[in-house]
Amino acid sequence: MSWRYLAVAAEAVLRAGRLQRDRYASGVTVEYKGKIDLVTEVDRACELAILETIRTRYPDHDIVTEETDLARTGSRHVWFVDPLDGTTNFAHSYPMFCASVALAEDGELVAGAVYDPIRDELFTGEKGAGSYLNGRRLYVSKASELIRSLLITGFPYDLHQRLDERLRFFNRVIGKARAVRRDGSAALDLCYVAAGRADGFWEEILNPWDMHAGRLILEEAGGRATRFDGTPLGLGKDEIVATNGLIHEAMVETLREVPRPALV
Ligand code: IPD
Ligand code: CA
Ligand code: CA
Repeated sequence: MSWRYLAVAAEAVLRAGRLQRDRYASGVTVEYKGKIDLVTEVDRACELAILETIRTRYPDHDIVTEETDLARTGSRHVWFVDPLDGTTNFAHSYPMFCASVALAEDGELVAGAVYDPIRDELFTGEKGAGSYLNGRRLYVSKASELIRSLLITGFPYDLHQRLDERLRFFNRVIGKARAVRRDGSAALDLCYVAAGRADGFWEEILNPWDMHAGRLILEEAGGRATRFDGTPLGLGKDEIVATNGLIHEAMVETLREVPRPALV
């Protein structure tokens, strides 16, 4: 059954991606959700297209989507939708953004699709059936040491308010890795680790729609994703460290070295 779900996820991200490609570099209306947190008319148009694609097929399924707070009915099936991941990049005509759609069934991720319309790259993953880039099977890299690893990270939108705190992990990791990138699209970052283009990714706070599709694609490519202390991820908002598996312990050890304020 999940291949049908995957087909719908792929159709949804392809539809959104076409909208993004048509509007890319053409000047879009930008609104502010926060000081540096943007939303454009294209985010909203992509969300409408994705919701329509899912609801036409599965009207009873629940949907968690970034730009609209939708009521949940307690369905066994929950879709996670990021209509445009990399909005800041999109608003600046920086060609690194995508649409991301994942489905969880009974609390477990079963299908995920991420589409980069600029490179025409469709990443897909299905529970137990592997992950693919435009139909070609994906495998993670073989790097086994941080000093030989290219890593990616990202920062939440409260960066200005908590700059020192948000830079602690970055400052620790960058001194151990070959290089660290900040590409601005968590969903693509995870797919790049799945494709062996990077060896690991971490981010301190991500929403479910940012990471679930990319995380399933990564795991199905042989990678590993956990919380910073190595404990399992759920389906909620969380931190994530995602790697090729071989450098996972080293990443967890490095992130654990960073002192964190006690939780109250
Ligand atoms: C953001 C991007 C960015 C990450 C942020 C996300 P958005 O998503 O994935 O890379 O660092 O934490 O919120 O706002 O472009 O959908
Ligand atoms: Ca996002
Ligand atoms: Ca978004």
